[in-house]
Amino acid sequence: MGKKILVTGGTGYIGAHTVVELQNNDYEVIIVDNLANSDIKILGQIASITGEKPEFFRLDLRDKNAIAEILKIHPDIKGVIHFAASKSVSESVKKPLLYYDNNILALVNLLNALAGKPVNLVFSSSCTVYGEPDTLPVTELADIKKAESPYGNTKQIGEEILKETANAVKDLSVIALRYFNPVGAHPSALIGELPNGVPQNLVPYITQTAIGKREQLTVFGDQFDTPDGSCIRDFIHVVDLARAHVAAIRRMEAGQAHAAFEVFNIGTGQGYSVLELIRTFEKVTGTQLNYRIGPPRDGDIVKIWGDVSLAEKELGWRAENDLTSMLSSAWAWENYINNNPFN
Ligand code: NAD
Ligand code: WQD
Repeated sequence: MGKKILVTGGTGYIGAHTVVELQNNDYEVIIVDNLANSDIKILGQIASITGEKPEFFRLDLRDKNAIAEILKIHPDIKGVIHFAASKSVSESVKKPLLYYDNNILALVNLLNALAGKPVNLVFSSSCTVYGEPDTLPVTELADIKKAESPYGNTKQIGEEILKETANAVKDLSVIALRYFNPVGAHPSALIGELPNGVPQNLVPYITQTAIGKREQLTVFGDQFDTPDGSCIRDFIHVVDLARAHVAAIRRMEAGQAHAAFEVFNIGTGQGYSVLELIRTFEKVTGTQLNYRIGPPRDGDIVKIWGDVSLAEKELGWRAENDLTSMLSSAWAWENYINNNPFN
């Protein structure tokens, strides 16, 4: 059995896919999650893929004693991947304190519990820190704009807390991965995104519409300054994203990090519009999607895609899956969960 990695939020969407990749790379995974936005059955699904059920503790990271206790049980944890957070932009506007509590206090508690240990930590950041970029593709050196939502602000503040702490503390190495738009599911279709209620993100809304759970998709605007008028995003397959975490952990383990705190964009480097994505989905599934064009969504970024050359050079990682693979896997997962609902 390989080195122990603590994965916070490991039963969530990106966390579960990363746990699979870690186990495939011989890491021993310990998950902590309060199940606020995930289902305990994901543990069995992970075991069906890898043959190994990860150790699991149900706890809330806002409880500082609880996380400290786990690190006493497992004093030899050397790697941490911190996914646990609340992630809805619109909810964060309505409940800002919930977001500062859950995303900032939880991070501070985790860092306090890790204090004094030699640890490599990967942090889930987001391309949301760039706002609407001035130049495309956006690089890691681009300005960090004033956050447009409390959620976005928690990612900016989280990066700052980690940078300052890693610079001040010996033996803490941190890599923040700025994800672009994660979509898709594991090729086994045994794990995937499990939106709570009405999906706010594009791909789960599309798959739920196609399977009949939703009536119609609304495309938020088609009069933007883009070739077909709809917004453009850098969609990345969740399995590629999961593998980037393994690459980040490996870089720090090998002592290859150039600084105590590093940042990498994790995307494909290629932008696709919302309408292009819909057309690809229709081709992949051989069905017609019921959609209409509606008004723009408040605060939406018009176009963003990442320069991912730094991750390629330094992490030795690049995305391998194309949009077809992202959408066919998302569709296979939607069919699976529709036939085998968790509750
Ligand atoms: P998710 O909601 O599926 O997973 C997060 C997990 O953390 C859930 O299982 C939830 O129960 C758990 N959690 C939340 N608060 C907790 C707490 N206080 N204590 C313990 N567990 C807690 O979300 P995801 O899509 O897998 O996102 C993972 C991370 O990546 C988040 O930090 C998110 O902000 C970030 N991110 C996500 C996206 C995206 O589009 N999905 C994009 C960029 C960044
Ligand atoms: C993608 C595109 C919508 C739904 C959000 C967060 C960001 C990051 C990822 C975490 C946009 C359009 C969507 C719909 C639509 N999360 N759309 N109809 O907005 O890029 O980013 O999730 O860090 O912080 O802001 O993702 O999937 O919501 O939207 O037309 O019903 O699809 O307008 O252009 P977004 P999304």
